Amino acid sequence: MKPKCILQDKVIRDAIQGCKNIETKAGDWDLVTEFDKKVEEILIHNLAKEFPTHKFIGEETVSSANHLPELTDNPTWIIDPIDGTTNFVHSFPFTCISIALAVEKELEIGIVYNPVLEQLFTARKGRGAYLNGKPIKSSSIEELEHSLLCCEASYATIENIRDITLGRVEAFVSVAHGIRTMGSAALTLCYVAMSAAEGYHTDNLMPWDVAAGVLIVREAGGVVVDTNGGEFNIMAPKVIAAGNHKLVNELVKLIKKADAKTLQKRLIHEATI
Ligand code: IPD
Ligand code: CA
Ligand code: CA
Ligand code: CA
Repeated sequence: MKPKCILQDKVIRDAIQGCKNIETKAGDWDLVTEFDKKVEEILIHNLAKEFPTHKFIGEETVSSANHLPELTDNPTWIIDPIDGTTNFVHSFPFTCISIALAVEKELEIGIVYNPVLEQLFTARKGRGAYLNGKPIKSSSIEELEHSLLCCEASYATIENIRDITLGRVEAFVSVAHGIRTMGSAALTLCYVAMSAAEGYHTDNLMPWDVAAGVLIVREAGGVVVDTNGGEFNIMAPKVIAAGNHKLVNELVKLIKKADAKTLQKRLIHEATI
């Protein structure tokens, strides 16, 4: 059964093929539609009715206030009303609602729902992860050479991180079975959780992109660390997620090596101009 709080998933399913009012936020690549705002409004309204003392961190509320609140010890719902807005705008069916509950700064509940493909991923801390009610387990593949790896190539459009992003993409392509860049961080994490992919990496995310997915990966037996290999920080997410410890460590090393190569190229370029 679907959790009550996501019952307005029909809004997304009905709207995905139709016309949308599209606005841009930080740039041409950062889109928002009236449906992102509508879904967030309904979610917060419904959850607040049920849990009047709880706090909320929702993407569109934060964007309009232009202020990211601190995560406190209070129970806090971290909400992405539509993760994969660019996919949604293009009617590409890889889009979802992502909702997490953090208590004392620890992730307790994660819900990710793709209303188009009707895939509901859920997790509770200590109680495993599920797809449509059936338990899921992350991949046991430990070698990069046998892995399908996911990343976010779209950051190559941002001038100051273009070379770093492309360097990492090149490193992934040259070592893995294949790479995928799917446009929804939340769903990509769930695909790592269900062993459809072995690993995922991206920097430049926000808490709502990953909060639910990170718990789902961990509860499926997977591992999530910060890009430098340290502890993952929910409020400033830089993510390496993988099916197991061995592969996460391999990814940390691969990214370090790719960055060193990129920085070396920068130095050479600077010395020659
Ligand atoms: C985006 C997606 C995408 C990631 C972007 C996010 P949105 O979220 O998760 O995969 O690369 O950084 O902003 O804007 O579609 O909710
Ligand atoms: Ca967005
Ligand atoms: Ca998002
Ligand atoms: Ca969003």
